[in-house]
Amino acid sequence: MPDQSHGHPDGGRAGQTALIEMIDVDKEFANGTVAVRDMSLVINKGEFVSFLGPSGCGKSTALKMISGLLSVSNGSITVNGHLAGQSPDASDIGYVFQEANLLPWATVFENVYLPLKLRGLSRKEASARVEEALAMVGLAKFAKSYPRQLSGGMRMRVSIARAMVTKPKLLLMDEPFAALDEMTRAKLNDDVLQLWESQGLTVIFVTHSVFESVYLSSRVVVMAARPGRVVHDIALGDGYPRNAAYRMTAAYTESCRLVSNALEGTMDHVDLNH
Ligand SMILES: Nc1ncnc2c1ncn2[C@@H]1O[C@H](COP(=O)(O)OP(=O)(O)OP(=O)(O)O)[C@@H](O)[C@H]1O
Ligand SMILES: [Mg+2]
Repeated sequence: MPDQSHGHPDGGRAGQTALIEMIDVDKEFANGTVAVRDMSLVINKGEFVSFLGPSGCGKSTALKMISGLLSVSNGSITVNGHLAGQSPDASDIGYVFQEANLLPWATVFENVYLPLKLRGLSRKEASARVEEALAMVGLAKFAKSYPRQLSGGMRMRVSIARAMVTKPKLLLMDEPFAALDEMTRAKLNDDVLQLWESQGLTVIFVTHSVFESVYLSSRVVVMAARPGRVVHDIALGDGYPRNAAYRMTAAYTESCRLVSNALEGTMDHVDLNH
């Protein structure tokens, strides 16, 4: 399968330095499921990359291996020069899951403070950073609220603040907005782009949505299932900033068509022997 490009497609935003190097990575679970096969990928500092693909194609597994939550069966992953999961500074990576996963009995402040608390910082030492993280996601006034008092979109913002409070260089997001309504999702898409720009982040964003992947990313990695693997690596030429006007452009429509065709093609790659 010819890939579109492995270049640096985002108009110069991303540097030329590799942050993540996956080389020939396999993941086979104990029950014999091959969740990921032969995945090789270099992601440079500053890129915004989406993993797109049907259910079961190994997107979450790939993300968990990059973070070190799961080990690889074969091959290797390095993040910032360290084997995945072996960085001396665990704060380098922020992880946002599909569910906000907040502690219901704790305030917004306490929820965002948690990662710093686990690192031994007192409330007093941490408070400026917690407040800064809440301000980043527009929730400065909600520190004392409880999760049940917030909308789904606001809860997801708290979850993003919690991931950002350790000042990570890499933000891994696993279908973070799948459960939200269209308007809230669009707003949070813009907020994530703004965070990416202002914090100099590298982002890997998992989604089922062609539209969301195109709107956000400089590059879309399309995966197929059985066994989970990369079938396209599409560099998008559209520059930044992206905004509501971008959704109305011919370039956006064309990129959606390109990515959509690649995704439909993944059905041709299903190997029924696995
Ligand atoms: N702990 C596990 N043990 C056994 N098999 C697993 C485990 N976790 C995932 N799998 C299997 O590995 C494959 C890839 O799963 P994964 O969760 O990575 O897919 P995904 O692309 O994230 O799917 P979705 O879009 O539904 O979230 C699936 O077949 C899944 O059933
Ligand atoms: Mg998943």
